Amino acid sequence: MNSFEVHIPTHIFFGKEKKAAFFDAVSLRSKQLLLVIGGGSVSKTGYLDEVLAELADRDIKVTLFEGIEPNPVALTIDKAAQLGLEKGVDAVLAFGGGSVMDASKAIAGLIHDRENEIWPFVLGEPRYKTMRGALPVAAIPTTAATASEVTPHAVISNPSVKGKSPVSYPFFKPFASWLNPAFHTSIPAETTRDGASDIFSHVIENYLLGGNDSPLADRYSEGVMETVIETLPLAIAEPGNEAYRGRLLWASTMALNTMQVAGRVPSVFILHNLEHALSGYNHQLAHGRGLAILYPAYFKWLMERDRAVDRLALLGERLFGLDRKNDDETAAEFIAMFEQWLQENGLCHSLTDVDIPEEAFDEIAAYAIRVYGVGKPLNACGEMTASDITEIFRMTLSQGQGEPD
Ligand code: NZQ
Ligand code: ZN
Repeated sequence: MNSFEVHIPTHIFFGKEKKAAFFDAVSLRSKQLLLVIGGGSVSKTGYLDEVLAELADRDIKVTLFEGIEPNPVALTIDKAAQLGLEKGVDAVLAFGGGSVMDASKAIAGLIHDRENEIWPFVLGEPRYKTMRGALPVAAIPTTAATASEVTPHAVISNPSVKGKSPVSYPFFKPFASWLNPAFHTSIPAETTRDGASDIFSHVIENYLLGGNDSPLADRYSEGVMETVIETLPLAIAEPGNEAYRGRLLWASTMALNTMQVAGRVPSVFILHNLEHALSGYNHQLAHGRGLAILYPAYFKWLMERDRAVDRLALLGERLFGLDRKNDDETAAEFIAMFEQWLQENGLCHSLTDVDIPEEAFDEIAAYAIRVYGVGKPLNACGEMTASDITEIFRMTLSQGQGEPD
């Protein structure tokens, strides 16, 4: 096994019965809270009233910021931080999906450092890695997708430059997160599908590129993938089933907490580098949807270069029970079966189905290389150049069932 570090400081509270314990933990860190929400789903569903009542019971003063967009926009984050500074808040509570949680971390950093703008701090910009700290952040995730409730990452969008880029610090990791499946029964089908695709990506990225040195990381990752494959259709058929919602939620938290890669050779998150460039170009594209479009093309591209074929074949054996007599055949069969699963679950599309025109492929590939490769080819068990990325984008054109639902 290779050397690694694991540091998960987040106190995780899972389930309805953990509500009081979570809010008690928040009350130990905050008397003046900035509560950050998205475009209104938590108020329409009534969840917000429940949270506000818990905070009021503990005499925590609340400033509410509503309006974080999906793929959170830098300027909105700047506005929220300004409000938090004016109100003298001492902590930030994120109540929403990955976009709200990511925005909350960035807001907490800006307030702590008394800064006005987040965009200069993201990867590819001049002040990257220069943030000094952040206010304490707590989170209540309302999607099963990003694991932002435990990660150090905040992914920020800037539509004015067609950019999307992360800012990551250990001090962004939430000190407490409440995972309440009851808040997930209202997630629309499309967002449920997108989230499942994102969970899957967080374990498959390094599963493919990280080698064979950590059998436990493999079994752990396969457990997450199997849970997603089995549970997504169940949750779509019965959206109000809290047990299914809980399975996806816990899978999402477990998928991106460093345990999933522990002991393997570290690798970059290729699919994420490409997808962030895509949703940077089209701000309306959901992260998980972009990933789903890339899966079959990326897997086939790897096979064509004889890379990670043994790992694709292992997935065929472990996830679909395929006989592993010949790795090339088993890997190809795995890709076909996985593509079929994507189709059956409304996740199989081409890039043009999501309004990314072929004429833009070169520009988006160049962005991925400039920002995520810092001007050099990406590394996917060997070089991945801008023209390779364009080729992968082109390979998506033969996929799909038309517009997403
Ligand atoms: O804004 P509201 O009104 O809340 O509606 C949201 C939004 O329209 C809605 N929604 C969320 N929870 C709901 C709900 N609707 C009904 N009931 C609920 N319980 O869903 C829509 C999408 O929300 P969003 O937060 O954008 O989705 P997701 O959780 O997938 O987050 C995506 C963002 O996270 C980043 C992505 O790049 C993207 O910007 N990521 C963050 C990561 C991290 N911090 O570690 C890692 C990931 O790989 C990812 O890059
Ligand atoms: Zn992701």
